[in-house]
Amino acid sequence: MSDAPNPIAHLPAERRPRHVGVIMDGNGRWAKERGLPRERGHEKGADAVREVVRAARRCGIEALTLFAFSSQNWDRPPEEVVHLMALLRRYLIEERAEILDNDIRLTTVGETERLPSLVRDPLSELMEVSKDNRGMVLCLALSYGGRETISGAARRLAQRVADGELRPEEIDVETFARSLPSSEMPPLDLLVRTSGEHRISNFFLWESAYAELHFSPVMWPEFGREAFIVALEDFASRERRFGLTPAQAETAPRVASGGD
Ligand code: IPE
Ligand code: IPE
Ligand code: MG
Repeated sequence: MSDAPNPIAHLPAERRPRHVGVIMDGNGRWAKERGLPRERGHEKGADAVREVVRAARRCGIEALTLFAFSSQNWDRPPEEVVHLMALLRRYLIEERAEILDNDIRLTTVGETERLPSLVRDPLSELMEVSKDNRGMVLCLALSYGGRETISGAARRLAQRVADGELRPEEIDVETFARSLPSSEMPPLDLLVRTSGEHRISNFFLWESAYAELHFSPVMWPEFGREAFIVALEDFASRERRFGLTPAQAETAPRVASGGD
């Protein structure tokens, strides 16, 4: 891994994102276009996950968050949910060696306690054995919803106020950001959504405040290293201003600062 060339070596270091989030969408439509059941789309989607994780690691991305299953996806037909859970388990088992060999730390955001034990068990085991890895953070958003996460954080802060541990005036952007599970990772720089949809669908609502958005027409099962690099090149071409004037932004750092 370490001697493999970096596919984004041509992009200046300060124009590379530290944290990329991906809304992996279009599995069902990819399958439908081919007259296949939706399940086949999800299976092919798991191959795309493999390829994009590998590409991100090669590119030196510090954190990659993949939106794999939303809080709202529980309402899909039960057979589809069961199949997605089985695929998730298979992914965790099959990718274990690659994750460890590549110094990747696996983490999650979302209500993982809602997952069946057939997923929770390999998930917690892999999180535990990979916890000291430093090559890249791979964060799986599972049973994740941005609104659910924000309201959960608000609830925990309110409880701390009720318990006398925190004063209401101490709750500011920084305190709030620290109470979100994503605070363990660098600020989100780039948010990618595949399949030509232009919406956030309850993903990183807070974290996206100053993320650059890249919408790809490619269906997730077809999304691979090449499309990922296109997204990184698009990011590198953006002028990030964070509310400043263009002249100010030219001299300010390109990455989001505290509070994200
Ligand atoms: C993304 O693909 C996978 C999940 C949301 C679990 P979809 O299953 O949403 O595919 P489309 O959007 O129906 O094509
Ligand atoms: C978002 O995709 C969730 C994931 C990619 C896991 P959806 O397919 O569920 O979102 P909508 O329904 O198009 O908004
Ligand atoms: Mg979809």
